[in-house]
Amino acid sequence: MTQAFSTTSDNTLVEAAPAKINLYLHVTGRREDGYHLLDSLVVFAQAGDVLRYVPGPEPLHLKLTGRFGETLGESAAGPDNLVMKAAAALATVGDGTGVQGGCLVLEKNLPVASGIGGGSADAAAALRLLDRAWGINAGQQTLLTLAERLGADVPVCVLGHAIRMEGIGEVLSPVPALPECGMVLVNCGQAVSTPEVFRRRQGAFANRATIPAGWPDVQALIAFLQEQTNSLEDPACDVCPVVSKVLADIAGQDDCLLSRMSGSGATCFGLFPTAESARQAAERLADAHDAWWVWGGGLK
Ligand code: C5P
Repeated sequence: MTQAFSTTSDNTLVEAAPAKINLYLHVTGRREDGYHLLDSLVVFAQAGDVLRYVPGPEPLHLKLTGRFGETLGESAAGPDNLVMKAAAALATVGDGTGVQGGCLVLEKNLPVASGIGGGSADAAAALRLLDRAWGINAGQQTLLTLAERLGADVPVCVLGHAIRMEGIGEVLSPVPALPECGMVLVNCGQAVSTPEVFRRRQGAFANRATIPAGWPDVQALIAFLQEQTNSLEDPACDVCPVVSKVLADIAGQDDCLLSRMSGSGATCFGLFPTAESARQAAERLADAHDAWWVWGGGLK
């Protein structure tokens, strides 16, 4: 596992839950149960939620903080929260001797239901953190199996590094190392329903991408991505027309190499030559649009 895991001086355990971004996303088919088959190159940004855990004798409970946690309210911190579901699933692995209660605090810095995996990243962070904290040491395969049951995007978030994702999210395969580049993320503040976006997709299914042996520099990566699409971008623009404006505004920034939507939206990203050029573009976008959530920086 490559995630940051640390302990602060007061015994709080800390785990990062980075944003997941689909650099391309092809809908390649549909299963009999209605779920769609995907082919996607997934990367992780230095933006993310943060999960903290203070073990204690009281039953395990969750508090939400941060810009998006406070707006969700207390009801979102109940047993249906994916973090609590991840904890419950993990507690069943092994003989349970190390399992403890205490307080989980989830700092929600990422917009919810926005195509960058917030809830999935949080569940994956909970699996990684509690696996260590409770001394379960379940191993990667067991964590991936638990993750798959929690949601289609959770397995990829358990790994937390650039990877190709197929099936409905459970088929993961390595990709060449990505070149250094910067990323801007923009969310217009409108939640978009994933089932609705899938339902509105029209036309033939896309082909699997042919991934090259390497991307020697950012130009090579951009040339590859220009041949790919996000099959859900058009239906998401139907549901939430402001996505088109977000894409155009990102593309209009100096140095922007490519702009696309992530997942089923509504968050869009731009790729930039460096993390610094992405930060500068993010500042300009944030100044121009008070109501938008904007982030700029590097990839993990
Ligand atoms: O994975 P998640 O719970 O976000 O999916 C919500 C809904 O989106 C599913 O119930 C399904 O309607 C649709 N979906 C899909 N194919 C996928 C992922 C999601 O059709 N691969």
